[in-house]
Amino acid sequence: MTPAGLTAHRGGPLRGRVRAPGDKSISHRALIFGALASGVTEVEGLLEGEDVKRSAAAMRAFGASVERLGEGHWRVEGKGGFAEPADVIDCGNAGTGVRLIMGAAAGFDLAATFTGDASLRGRPMNRVMKPLIDMGAKFLGRSNGRLPLTLQGGNLTRLEYRLPEPSAQVKSAVLLAGLHATGGAHVIEPEATRDHTERMLRGFGAQVLVEDRAGVRHIELPGGQSLSGTRVRVPGDPSSAAFPIVAALIVPGSEVTVEGVLLNPLRTGLFATLLEMGADLTITNEREESGELVGDITARYGPLRGVSVPPERAPSMIDEYPILAVAAAHAEGATQMRGIGEMRVKESDRIALMAAGLAASGIAVEEEPEGLIVLGTARANHPAKGGAQVVTKGDHRIAMSHLVMGLASDQPITVDEPEMIATSFPTFVSMIQGLGGSLTEV
Ligand code: S3P
Repeated sequence: MTPAGLTAHRGGPLRGRVRAPGDKSISHRALIFGALASGVTEVEGLLEGEDVKRSAAAMRAFGASVERLGEGHWRVEGKGGFAEPADVIDCGNAGTGVRLIMGAAAGFDLAATFTGDASLRGRPMNRVMKPLIDMGAKFLGRSNGRLPLTLQGGNLTRLEYRLPEPSAQVKSAVLLAGLHATGGAHVIEPEATRDHTERMLRGFGAQVLVEDRAGVRHIELPGGQSLSGTRVRVPGDPSSAAFPIVAALIVPGSEVTVEGVLLNPLRTGLFATLLEMGADLTITNEREESGELVGDITARYGPLRGVSVPPERAPSMIDEYPILAVAAAHAEGATQMRGIGEMRVKESDRIALMAAGLAASGIAVEEEPEGLIVLGTARANHPAKGGAQVVTKGDHRIAMSHLVMGLASDQPITVDEPEMIATSFPTFVSMIQGLGGSLTEV
């Protein structure tokens, strides 16, 4: 039976070495690119979370053969294009899945209807629909670009698109559509976002030209290109590694090493911020795997101080502000997080839910339209009162952040809908328990 909730209790130190689960962004892309390509793609280290499994099922529905060979080891055989799916594509909780697949499918002469869970059906899709419509795709959907919606693809033409919001999902949708658009596509990024799509397009044999013009990134995908199957080794997800790392920083006496973490500079804003807060973090064994920098991160308990996070850092840590807010709750002095309006359109309104959850555990917070200020404690690493019963609205990162908080609070913290954690981090509970943390079902 699915438990109604999960409770985190304060206990002894967290200690040990663990491996971060596969990166979610790269896992979705490996399956989608493999399905678009001709020939076989073998993926190792794939994240086997619910979101990624939805993308695997979607790729089968669009005509690719997708097989699980072993733990994290998958084989995708693409047909060099997508065929019309026979049924509705349900992307579950996955914004990355649905937005990238819509872009990938838009270049083919097919109709496809997309939907998702209640959270995904509430999220804005017009940010991808708009550029795809400009390229020639047609959509019929609910008001304000909400799912379910139907895409009619085919006959796309080149688009030069300046991203109105810093979104790697929108960038990726335009580039994937550009693969099958006359003349390709050109994306202009005033603020750089994660570049896994550009890197992986090259890995699958496409030419992508990236140029920095006065701090603005220009990404040119020439037209008439096709992808060929390849091998992909998925590095560990820094967004997941963040949870055991912050847990070690705030639970007295802890020392935890997370191995194989992706260190792409467009993803490591949290680690830079934690170092500025005085965190005892060391990175060892830096190496390159499948064109990405990875390393092992060791985190030790110690005093933290509040900082002001530069707003321009937001794209490189957008999914990490909830767990940063937990670190900030244990820091001496205020931590100011601004320029994070995108947080409100994630799996939930993460500014509102973090503000509510921290306040319910006795932490003073100030919520702004595009910001969150956590006032922290008078003394560094002073335990929070805790005791919150957290409403997560099905958001995996809201759940994991509050559970980490509960490991260091005076009173236990309980989160609802704990099954949603499996969307991105199916081994979270066993990993934290294996490190010595106390998590119990209610
Ligand atoms: C992702 C991009 C980000 C991030 C999401 C994954 C991606 O979303 O929040 O978890 O894989 O491209 P946006 O593109 O909406 O910022």
